[in-house]
Amino acid sequence: MDQNFNGKVALITGGTSGIGLAISKELAKLGCKICISYSQSDKKAAITKKELEQFTNEVLLIKSDISNEQAVIELFTKIKNQYQKLDYLINNAGIDLPQAFEDFSFKDWKKIIDINLNGKFLAIKNAIPLLKNSEDARVINISSRLSQKPLLEASAYCCSQAGIEMLTKVAALELCKYNIKVNTISPGFTKTPLTEGIYINKEFWEKSAAANPSKRVGDPIDIANTVVFLLSSKSNYINGVSIHVNGGSHLG
Ligand SMILES: NC(=O)c1ccc[n+]([C@@H]2O[C@H](COP(=O)([O-])OP(=O)(O)OC[C@H]3O[C@@H](n4cnc5c(N)ncnc54)[C@H](OP(=O)(O)O)[C@@H]3O)[C@@H](O)[C@H]2O)c1
Repeated sequence: MDQNFNGKVALITGGTSGIGLAISKELAKLGCKICISYSQSDKKAAITKKELEQFTNEVLLIKSDISNEQAVIELFTKIKNQYQKLDYLINNAGIDLPQAFEDFSFKDWKKIIDINLNGKFLAIKNAIPLLKNSEDARVINISSRLSQKPLLEASAYCCSQAGIEMLTKVAALELCKYNIKVNTISPGFTKTPLTEGIYINKEFWEKSAAANPSKRVGDPIDIANTVVFLLSSKSNYINGVSIHVNGGSHLG
């Protein structure tokens, strides 16, 4: 990438693990100032900071539950105090708690929607004043292949991901007047701590790779590379779309 990202300020929600960690690393390598939010694991956050410090000294870690409005307000106040602007919001934090529909606990349903969908709304809403201070602001919401394809025991997760794709379109339409572009990246099945925790059987992973036309599951770097493209000047005219990154898994 020949573009200069030096001085750009990026927030990656859930940037301490899996897809978010890969995005954080790629943006740090390109010279961005990195802000990362997470809600639980201080240990993972400390390891992340150390890894990123190979590439940049500008790493701001903020412990903040993305589904808690007050915490999100405080998150953006901290970024404002440090940098006075935000160039890139990578709305990545998400969870899944697989359960069959008829046994689904309403508490868990609400938790999934709160983190995966409401958290993205809260982040965009509270980021707007800082994004307006950027010359070329971008928001990328991370959704999923499951925004369009139902999966057993994933009702809340699938619904939250479908909501993210529409949230992107409405936000893109409303925020274009501020020169803020909003897009979605929808990964296919990707090997991360989230999916490795759910699918512990090695055979499952082999079968998933074999079933994909590209004969492998996704790697977090596949998503990070797409993020870099969507933040670059090469994607200037792309707004309000969802890019599916899945090796062709939707084709079968
Ligand atoms: N892996 C896949 O196959 C796949 C496919 C499609 C889409 N996605 C989406 O990609 C995103 C990242 O997934 P991943 O697989 O990389 O998951 P992951 O490895 O479990 O990472 C999730 C990150 O989100 C943070 N997080 C969780 N709850 C949070 C909250 N309430 N507030 C703030 N941060 C929170 C976690 O840190 P703490 O635990 O410390 O809070 C962690 O940094 C998710 O939105 C997921 O839906 C994943």
